[in-house]
Amino acid sequence: MSAALSKRNVLVTGGAGYIGSHTCKALAAAGWVPVTFDNLSLGHRWAMKWGPLVEGELLDTAAVTAALRAHEVSAVVHFAASAYVGDSMRDPAFYYRNNLLTTLSLMEAMQAASVPVLLFSSSCAVYGDPVRLPIDENHPTVPLSPYGQTKLDCENAIRWYGQAYGLRWAALRYFNAAGADPDGQLGEVHDPETRLVPRAIMAVLGQGPALQVFGNDYPTADGTAIRDYIHVSDLADAHVRALEYLMQGGASTVCNLGTGAGFSVMEVIEAVTAQAGVDVPYHLAARREGDPSEVVADARRSAALIGWMPRHSSLGSIVRTAFTWHRDLKPGR
Ligand SMILES: NC(=O)c1ccc[n+]([C@@H]2O[C@H](COP(=O)([O-])OP(=O)(O)OC[C@H]3O[C@@H](n4cnc5c(N)ncnc54)[C@H](O)[C@@H]3O)[C@@H](O)[C@H]2O)c1
Repeated sequence: MSAALSKRNVLVTGGAGYIGSHTCKALAAAGWVPVTFDNLSLGHRWAMKWGPLVEGELLDTAAVTAALRAHEVSAVVHFAASAYVGDSMRDPAFYYRNNLLTTLSLMEAMQAASVPVLLFSSSCAVYGDPVRLPIDENHPTVPLSPYGQTKLDCENAIRWYGQAYGLRWAALRYFNAAGADPDGQLGEVHDPETRLVPRAIMAVLGQGPALQVFGNDYPTADGTAIRDYIHVSDLADAHVRALEYLMQGGASTVCNLGTGAGFSVMEVIEAVTAQAGVDVPYHLAARREGDPSEVVADARRSAALIGWMPRHSSLGSIVRTAFTWHRDLKPGR
């Protein structure tokens, strides 16, 4: 492969997962060759449509180094992680291992293979309970779970590696990813499924139990918690833009990815009901510990720095694409 071509090879850890696979599609459309590195613990072989799969374990630094060298990779997009807040409360050791140690292993491999650019999947979970809304990148970071803490610890490690070793990086703090590829080629399959939009859709389609609504006594208009839902294809587009930004010499940065608009659990239920033409079965349950009443992003930095604007993230578009995926397209539905 020529040196010019090799510059467009990017290693995507977790590329067989939900956000990673949508990003592989967007990267391929932008002329990149996405090389997925994934242990398939949670990812799917059927989602591998836009580039090769290297099946491997991120803690295996030598295997990651070999993949970076063999594919002449010039940048890494790092999605692979464990991402269940509740699980992380029960088993922090696993989260420190699979989120923090994997990221240290990856950066060691990048140093060994002289790969200078890293995009990191961070999360609004680094902020903890909002002290002001919307949440900008300078909001205090006080994570409420080992999951959020490991994401923040990764960001800090990446920053120090950047300073010492010249790594250029962007940490993208996603709010709530939702929706499915508008072309119907990809979508969300998590087992167990814990996120609101797919759970509401699966409940109405009879693919899962009735939805549990955790708390209706929050200080919001209808009493249910408000979140900022961002379409997975908009997240994918942001990664392509952030990658081009860094490849063109852009300074390392932390950026929020959200819409700035919040929707309550009841508003999501109403949108799914409208889409399905049938009521979503749900029942009320107690609040979950550590769930803030409202989490909404200020994503103006992403707009200014990488020219990113969400295009698919209206609640209607999120619900429509996800509903079609779960009803008609999802493997094993
Ligand atoms: N889904 C969201 O709403 C959301 C919000 C904020 C941040 N994030 C972050 O985005 C990233 C992707 O999330 P997702 O929802 O696509 O998750 P996912 O579980 O669908 O994908 C994760 C992928 O990583 C792989 N993986 C996990 N551990 C690995 C290891 N040790 N070695 C190799 N591969 C490994 C899994 O097999 C899977 O394919 C995660 O880092 C998550 O923390 C997600």
